[in-house]
Amino acid sequence: MSLALRPDMSVAVLTGAGISADSGLATFRDSGGLWEQHDVTQVATPEGFLRDPDLVWRFYSHRRRQAMAADPNAAHRALASLERFLESRGRFTLITQNVDGLHQRGGARNVLEVHGSLFRTRCANPACPRSKTAWQDEELHLDGAPRCGECGGLLRPAVVWFGEHLDPEVLFAAEQAVKRCDLFLVVGTSGVVWPVAGLILVARDQGARSVLVNLEPPENHRYFDEVHLGRAAEVLPSLLALP
Ligand code: APR
Repeated sequence: MSLALRPDMSVAVLTGAGISADSGLATFRDSGGLWEQHDVTQVATPEGFLRDPDLVWRFYSHRRRQAMAADPNAAHRALASLERFLESRGRFTLITQNVDGLHQRGGARNVLEVHGSLFRTRCANPACPRSKTAWQDEELHLDGAPRCGECGGLLRPAVVWFGEHLDPEVLFAAEQAVKRCDLFLVVGTSGVVWPVAGLILVARDQGARSVLVNLEPPENHRYFDEVHLGRAAEVLPSLLALP
């Protein structure tokens, strides 16, 4: 069964770690997930970074290496096909909480990485000009936290940690895309991390059709018009079958 897609539609998509599970990458809150294996306060907070920057860099370098070794799956590719189908007359915005870069490697172009990227680094010293813009970095910093060439301070992964704000421009663009969409498609997320978890309410308020694809029903599944339970790599290709 497909979503009866039309080339003039405006589609906003929100993805989470579940869409990359079929590429072999761990999610966060499933059994055996990253937050079961690691203490989130040690590896995903500013305080944890200041306490032990080397540990944080080992954690993110390990995830960098895993993401580089992973391949985009059929779900990533199905979304990229949808983007190409809509590009002439419709609108397509892919909002991802994922930092693994698999959407772009799977062919997606208009991607909003609301939680940053494993493959970007910036200076952790707020007084340093190199803390304002992140740069592409695929190095594995396993032997200690790298230092800034400008100020000598610590470099950090350009991801959003718990207790930190999202980039307001990126969040605004995400909200605008959801405010004007006909279809809001959510894939592979437990829907518990704000402010991104609030996007489904934005979609409902403006009357968009909301569709969820998830392995299990998350807490907020009742907010959606339609719920398709299953693995994204199996469900999305048929759900997004193009006319
Ligand atoms: N296909 C579809 N959904 C899946 C699959 C799959 N193959 N495997 C797992 N899922 C679902 C799970 O049922 C779960 O609801 O994906 C969801 C993953 O939830 P989380 O692990 O909480 O990941 P996510 O929602 O992306 O977390 C949001 O929390 O820790 C922060 O910054 C981190 O971006 C992350 C945010």
